[in-house]
Amino acid sequence: MAEATSNQESKDYGIGVPVANPVYKLKGSNNYDWGMKDRLARVFDPQSGKTVMLAFDHGYIMGPTAGLERIDLTIVPLLEHANCLMCTRGILRACVPPTFNKAISLRCSAGATLLTELNDECIGVEIEDALRLNASMMAVMVAVGSAKFEALTIRNLCKMIETGNRYGLPTLGVTAVGKELTRDARYLGLATRVLAENGAQVIKTYYCEEHFERVTAACPVPIVIAGGKKLPELEALQMAYQAIDQGALGVDMGRNIFQAEHPVAMITAVKAVVHNGEKPEAAFKMYNEIKAAKKGGK
Ligand code: R5P
Repeated sequence: MAEATSNQESKDYGIGVPVANPVYKLKGSNNYDWGMKDRLARVFDPQSGKTVMLAFDHGYIMGPTAGLERIDLTIVPLLEHANCLMCTRGILRACVPPTFNKAISLRCSAGATLLTELNDECIGVEIEDALRLNASMMAVMVAVGSAKFEALTIRNLCKMIETGNRYGLPTLGVTAVGKELTRDARYLGLATRVLAENGAQVIKTYYCEEHFERVTAACPVPIVIAGGKKLPELEALQMAYQAIDQGALGVDMGRNIFQAEHPVAMITAVKAVVHNGEKPEAAFKMYNEIKAAKKGGK
C-alpha cells in the first residue's frame, strides 16, 4: 500500500525536454486507438513494417486440402516462422498450441463450400469468440462484383468493422475468388478500395502482373497478397518479391508454402524476400540450401 509520508521527493520532471510523440508508421493507421495499433503491431513486424502470414484456413471451404490433412504434423512446425496465422477457430482450438503467442487472423466469415456456390457467406464467428481467442484481426470475405453476393458480403464486412472498432480489433477484408471475378488491376483496384472505404484496416487480395502498383497506391491501408494455387518455388518467390516491390506490405500465403517440397525452407525464403527485400533468385538459392541441408540430416 502507498505510504502517505516519508516518500522520496519527486523531482525528475524533465523540464524542457519535449514529450516524444512518435508517428505510428503503418500505412493509414496513425489515427487508430492504442489497442488497434497494438494488435496491428503484432501482425506487421514493427522493424520491417511487413508481415508473413501463414494461411491454412482452406478447410473451411475445401475440407482436407492437400498439405493440411494433418495440421499438427505439417503446419505446427512452420508456426515459429510466421508473423501471423490465418486460420479458423476450429483448427486454432484443436491444433495450434496456445504458447504460439503471436498474431492470429481469425477467419470470421463462413458459408458455402466448394460443393455448392462459393461466396454465399454470413458472419460465422462473432467478436466475442474472436476476443476470447485473443485474435489480432478478424477476416471477412467480400465478393465485390458478384451479382448475387456483393451486397450481402459487404454487409458482413461492415458489421465486423463496426464491432471491431468498438473493441479495437482490426478487420481484414478479403477479396473473393469466383468464376465471374477477374484478377486484373482494374478489378482488384476497385475491390480493395471498396473494402478500405468501408473501413477494413487491412486488405488481402491477389497479385496481378500488370499495374499492381496502382492497386496498392490507391488503397489507403496495407495490402497483403494471397499466394493462390501452387507454383514452382522460384515463381512463388518472384511473385512475393514483385508484390512487395510494388507496394504490398506482406503475404498471406498458404499453398505455396505448405505444398512446397520443403515447407520450412520455403517459409524461410519467403521471409527473406518480405522482410529483408532479398531478390527471388537469392531466396531460391537459400530455399535449395536449406532443403539440401535438411535432407543431408544437418
Ligand atoms: C482460402 O480459403 C483462404 O482465403 C486463404 O487464406 C488464401 O487464399 C491464402 O492461401 P493461398 O496462398 O493458398 O491462396
